Amino acid sequence: MNDTLTIALSKGRIFKETLPLLAAAGITPADDPDSSRKLILDTNRDDVKLVIIRASDVPTYVCYGAADVGVAGKDVLMEHGGEGLYEPLDLKIARWDLKIARCRLMVAGPEHSDSGRRRMRIATKYINSTRRYYADRREQVEIIKLYGSMELAPIVGLADRIVDVVDTGNTLKANGLKPLEHIADISSRLVVNKASMKMKHARITDFIDKLRAACEN
Ligand code: ATP
Ligand code: PRP
Repeated sequence: MNDTLTIALSKGRIFKETLPLLAAAGITPADDPDSSRKLILDTNRDDVKLVIIRASDVPTYVCYGAADVGVAGKDVLMEHGGEGLYEPLDLKIARWDLKIARCRLMVAGPEHSDSGRRRMRIATKYINSTRRYYADRREQVEIIKLYGSMELAPIVGLADRIVDVVDTGNTLKANGLKPLEHIADISSRLVVNKASMKMKHARITDFIDKLRAACEN
């Protein structure tokens, strides 16, 4: 039986902010993905590997069992749908009252705008969450899929508003936009493949317990 635990992580803030929790759970990566070109990182433990992928690909890798567990933002999980995944932990460092990669999913745009369009046009990479949000409000909007730099869309008239994550609000401010409507509070979650949970039950519950303890200490 393959007893390796494969953990999916994305580079950047999720890797950096999750590192102290992994360390407290006894796992230290051999390389930093920001300086290494490797996509599979060894750790101090022979039976634990890290796969380094795009943040939005984490649910897919875990869902298909290419990784047993992973760390993904709630924004990404809401967009993916989360089928085939357990979501046992909201990652945080309780003693600092700090959630991992905490931010808010928001509607943003210019304070005053009237493009004259019959239906408001919303630019976002979160098309499923945006569709659900406006459907719940019984508002008909046109949604345009973008892959990044959403803040540009209202400035150049591509869209009336955007749906994106907001933390300090500095990016919105720098581009003359304002946060307008709150959709959801976001933080990073541990996700677990359902089949791995059965096949590697002792390994995975031990990992979850250690990570939970790390969050609470
Ligand atoms: P991808 O590479 O798949 O497009 P990304 O560029 O959004 O994803 P990151 O910027 O590393 O990836 O963000 C990872 C997660 O961190 C997001 O899914 C979100 O939950 C959270 N996040 C994004 N921006 C911020 C921010 N400014 N402050 C805090 N958390 C954030
Ligand atoms: C995210 C998001 C916003 C910004 C919000 O971008 O897409 O642009 O952070 O953060 P703020 O409210 O603190 O300014 P990120 O920095 O992750 O860049 P990327 O999406 O291009 O990777």
